[in-house]
Amino acid sequence: MKILEVKTDNCKYPIRIGADIVRSLSTITKKFVGQKVIIVDKNVLSLWKDKIDEIRKSIDASVIEVEASEHNKSIEVATSIWSELISLGVDRKSIVINIGGGMISDLGGFVASTYMRGIKFTNCPTTLLSMVDASVGGKVGVNFGGLKNIIGSFNQPTEVVIDLEFLKTLPIREYASGMAEVIKHGVINDIDYLKNLENKSIALEEIVLRSCEIKKKIVEADPNENDQRKILNFGHTIGHALEEISIELHNDLLHGEAVALGMIAEAEISKLMGLIDESDVELIINLVSNNNLPTKLTFEVDFEKLVGLIHKDKKNSAKNINWTLLDRLGNAIYDQLVPIELVQKAFNKLV
Ligand SMILES: NC(=O)c1ccc[n+]([C@@H]2O[C@H](COP(=O)([O-])OP(=O)(O)OC[C@H]3O[C@@H](n4cnc5c(N)ncnc54)[C@H](O)[C@@H]3O)[C@@H](O)[C@H]2O)c1
Ligand SMILES: [Zn+2]
Repeated sequence: MKILEVKTDNCKYPIRIGADIVRSLSTITKKFVGQKVIIVDKNVLSLWKDKIDEIRKSIDASVIEVEASEHNKSIEVATSIWSELISLGVDRKSIVINIGGGMISDLGGFVASTYMRGIKFTNCPTTLLSMVDASVGGKVGVNFGGLKNIIGSFNQPTEVVIDLEFLKTLPIREYASGMAEVIKHGVINDIDYLKNLENKSIALEEIVLRSCEIKKKIVEADPNENDQRKILNFGHTIGHALEEISIELHNDLLHGEAVALGMIAEAEISKLMGLIDESDVELIINLVSNNNLPTKLTFEVDFEKLVGLIHKDKKNSAKNINWTLLDRLGNAIYDQLVPIELVQKAFNKLV
């Protein structure tokens, strides 16, 4: 097992990679005299019934099941979980354990952070995407009014317990979705990592470790995204807007797929701004495509609508879009302003 420690000004917590989840959760929950509540993805529960049962018994926990879908990362589902917490008699000495992908850690983290002004929670990610990104860093929230993560807060977990065995049942498309955030980590912060990904010369456990190290480093430097943490938004300005349009159309572009398309468009913007070369954009497109991720849109997107959604994103204002761009492979810059004609030109690359 590898242990990383995330340290910010007001908290410190471990990320345990390759952990024995039953033993880890027993140790963590011993410190809590209140209720232990597992919020678990229904799919994960049915695929890993024995394992979740073993966890439940070993820590004497109640279980709340949630159907994992981006549509359920909502205030309505949060409300139903708050009600269950009240009926279970959950108090401030209790702990919530989120077992599932990023949808569960975002939602369960939000529910725990707001219940009784905040109770502790631990994340046990079961998708690649949540292992390498969503479970670390304390961004919790729900979608609302057609906008991604518009209601939420920053609140760090008490621990992140990564049991890689869960990946054995992860569908290929979901695995690819996680690889989008992995590629992002290399593109924005680590050229050697990017080269390893390009050569496929890095094992899965190393990928989880390296991505967690990068996320940890960036979160520690700027936990509440005042400045440097904004580099993690590369691919997410256009990506989130595409995801929102896709959710509305019920055509289910996965988060990582939307980010992959967003990275291509935002790399193209970086090129049009004279920051990187065509060959850099090509490298990103090849990496995306070689990892079973889309390089073109498969549904119609109205550019005006896309721009309208981008302005409403919490990263931006009605006046300015704050772009995260690349000034070279392995390095990102934030709060960049871009002429709208260049955005349109870059967007056309996806059509
Ligand atoms: N908070 C953050 O910093 C952060 C970062 C990145 C993404 N996110 C959010 O994370 C969400 C996406 O997370 P995700 O990709 O993990 O999606 P998800 O949680 O919706 O899970 C994707 C699918 O995989 C299934 N699944 C989960 N674990 C499985 C397993 N072990 N075996 C088989 N199936 C399994 C789920 O049931 C679901 O159908 C988005 O809402 C995104 O906004 C948050
Ligand atoms: Zn993301």
